[in-house]
Order: sequence, then C-alpha cells, then structure tokens
Amino acid sequence: MPSFGLIGIQWGDEGKGKIVDLLSEKADVIVRFQGGANAGHTIVVNGRRIVLHLIPSGILHEGKYCVIGNGVVLDPEVFEHEITQLKSEGYLKDDSKLLVSATAHIIMPYHKKLDMLRESKGKGKIGTTGRGIGPAYEDKMGRIGIRVVDLLNRKVFEEKVRQNLEIKNFIIRGYYGEEGFKAEDIIEYYDRFRNVLEKYVSDTVEFLQKCVAQGKCILFEGAQGTHLDIDHGTYPFVTSSNTVAGNIMSGTGIPPFAVQGIIGVCKAYTTRVGEGPFPTELKDEIGEIIRERGKEYGATTGRPRRCGWFDAVSAKRAIAINGIKQICLTKLDVLDEFEKIKICTGYRVGDKEYSSPPLDTELYWKCVPVYEEVKGWKTKTTGITDFRKLPGAAKDYIKRLETILGVRVSIISTGPDRAETIVRDSFFKK
Ligand code: IMP
Repeated sequence: MPSFGLIGIQWGDEGKGKIVDLLSEKADVIVRFQGGANAGHTIVVNGRRIVLHLIPSGILHEGKYCVIGNGVVLDPEVFEHEITQLKSEGYLKDDSKLLVSATAHIIMPYHKKLDMLRESKGKGKIGTTGRGIGPAYEDKMGRIGIRVVDLLNRKVFEEKVRQNLEIKNFIIRGYYGEEGFKAEDIIEYYDRFRNVLEKYVSDTVEFLQKCVAQGKCILFEGAQGTHLDIDHGTYPFVTSSNTVAGNIMSGTGIPPFAVQGIIGVCKAYTTRVGEGPFPTELKDEIGEIIRERGKEYGATTGRPRRCGWFDAVSAKRAIAINGIKQICLTKLDVLDEFEKIKICTGYRVGDKEYSSPPLDTELYWKCVPVYEEVKGWKTKTTGITDFRKLPGAAKDYIKRLETILGVRVSIISTGPDRAETIVRDSFFKK
C-alpha cells in the first residue's frame, strides 16, 4: 500500500486538516514531521468543529496510529490540552495509538516569551503565531535545545533548564528589560508534563521503519505551507522549519523511497496570515467577501487572514519543489457568488515580467499580478459531492487550473464537513 505526503502549496491554512482527516480513513499511520502548535487544523465531524494544533488530525479515526515525529517542536501544554479535549469528545480511547518521538524538541516558556518580545519590541516583525516556534528551532540548531527524552530524565532536564536560563534571562532582562524566569518554577511546572507525556514517548523511527517494512500505508501530514518554508519561502516572512516534502525524511527518520507520492493542497483562492509579500492580496470589497464567506480567521491566533485571488505563479513553484502531480482544491464554494474570477499567471515589476517568484524579497514586495479572467458560476456549490453536478463554469475553472499548473485536481472540497467533498481519484488503491 503506498504512502503519501500531504503538503500545502500556498502560505498555510490550505485546509490540510480536512484532507488529512478524509485520507486518514484509508491510511494506517498518520505522522506530523515538522512545525509545532503554530499549525491549526480545523476538522468538522457531524457538525462538530475540532481544532488540533499538534496532534495529527488522523486521531479522529479510531484504530489509526498517530505519530509526532522528531522534526516537530512539541509544546507540552498544548499536548496536554489536546489529549484532554480529545478524550472528553470520545476520541483516543487507546493511548498506545499515539506515539511521540523521544527526540522531538520541547517548547519552553522562554521560547514563547522571546517570540512575543521580538514581535512586540523588536524590529522586523514577522507576524508569528507567538507559539515559540522560532526560538525553539534556534535552540535545536544551536545544540542547546531540550528534547522529550531530556524532559523524561529530571536530572538532565534540570541541568539543561539552568544552562539555558543563564543566557535567556540575560537577553530577556538585559535587552528587553522584562522579568526573567526562575529555574525552579519551570522545573516544577514541567514535572506534570513528564507524567502526561511518558506513556506516549517512543522510538518513532523504529516504529515507522517497521511500518514501512510491513507495507503499511503512512500519511505524512505537513503543517504550514511551501511558501512559509525556511529555505523556499518568502524569507524572512516564513516559519522556522522546512515545510516541504523533502523534510519528511529528516523529520521522521524514514528513507526517501518509503514515500510514493506527494499530494498538494491549496485553496481555490489564496490567503496569508502574518507579514510578507502577497501579490494577489485584495484589500478591497472582494477580499472582504472572501474573508467572510471563507471564515478566514486564523485557527491558532484568530487573526483575520489576508485574502486574494489564486496565485498560480507561487503554486507552480511549490508543485515543482514538492514533486506534486495531484492536488486537493479546497473551499471552492467560497467563490460561488462572483461574476468573474481571476487567476494570477505572472508577476510584473515595471515592464519586466516574472513567471516564477523572485528570490529577492524586496522585489517580491513590488510584484504586481498579471491576471487571466474566467467566468464565475454564480450558483451554490456547497455540499456537492459529484464532479458532474458542478456548474459548467466551476468545472472550467478547475480544468483551467489543471492546465496552468500541470497537475490533476483529484479532490475538491465544497464545504467544511467531511462529507462535503468531491473525490475524483482514490490515492490508496492496493
Ligand atoms: P511562526 O511559525 O509562529 O514562527 O510564524 C511565522 C510565520 O508563519 C507567520 O507569518 C505565521 O503567521 C505563519 N504561520 C505559522 N504557522 C502557520 C499556519 O499553520 N498557517 C498559516 N500561517 C502560519
């Protein structure tokens, strides 16, 4: 049975949660390989809305294994909260189905504080989620991070907290003029997370290797999106991990041949939260309509998302980087009311045209979209589950995207509920 990666090809919030939830039905194992609680995956099951930030959305399917891989930065507070929430909703009846990598790094209170301070007091605001992601990955790369396995060993944990606080408090107090942290407070507070986490911690590399050897179907759930990737995104307005398919291997410890395909996810339009270039952004009434119809407010921070037309220039780049042949197009119904719909097929700065995103962020800011206009369908598509029942203009829009992007649109989402989906191709054929 093949294994797949599911990757966002825009600036995050593509609706991956719903697609992961949908595909999880056929998968045996669902794995997060990067990011942390900065992600916000919203899933609606039988009218009930569930938002998960850390635990893979596949957890909503009984009997599936869910793995938080070594590439994730784990916030124990969020982890505890999600476990409690899931259990109270009747999910996660069997704790052995959730595995946390012993070598995932832990988000500490000083990571969150530093993230917030940089955003509020520093120069060059990124518009982060404030979840401590950047500072945690910095410590990982700086080789001073604290891993899950370190938390399990109180002595090691204590030493590492004290060592870290010497520098962190120096910055928090000396540079930002704010109150620092007491080592004892953190050490004591994190005692409870040792208890919460302990039963889920394992060697997830070994577990996944076995799954690969047994031919199990694994779904690798990407968080954020390709254009928020630390290497391939609109740097510095990016997240601090590699969000692209290439990171599935390092973030989980499985070999490249274990993944048979990468499925891309994008909305029928484009959104972005936080700062950074966004050529197709609509700061007018149309953008407002998209935001309201699409309920485009961040699942993690509640911030209104910036909205705009579909950007095929950046999508094509993401498709190439991830090796995508099939995509899931979400939120098609949000465009139901428009007379005309635009697709950005190029960027222009002065009289120079670009067919792929400029690498110089300063230039990216200046890009003006070159649009192709197509007819809107002005018909309700919400809840349609059969491609043939879509209005002609909606089918034409999808076909046009397929032609421009050179991919097949395999799944179309026509509403938030699991059932409101058109499935044209099945990914998990034996
Ligand atoms: P951080 O990941 O919190 O450091 O934020 C860095 C940038 O990535 C900011 O622009 C955030 O808004 C954005 N970002 C992080 N996670 C997500 C996500 O899951 N969806 C959309 N944007 C995100």
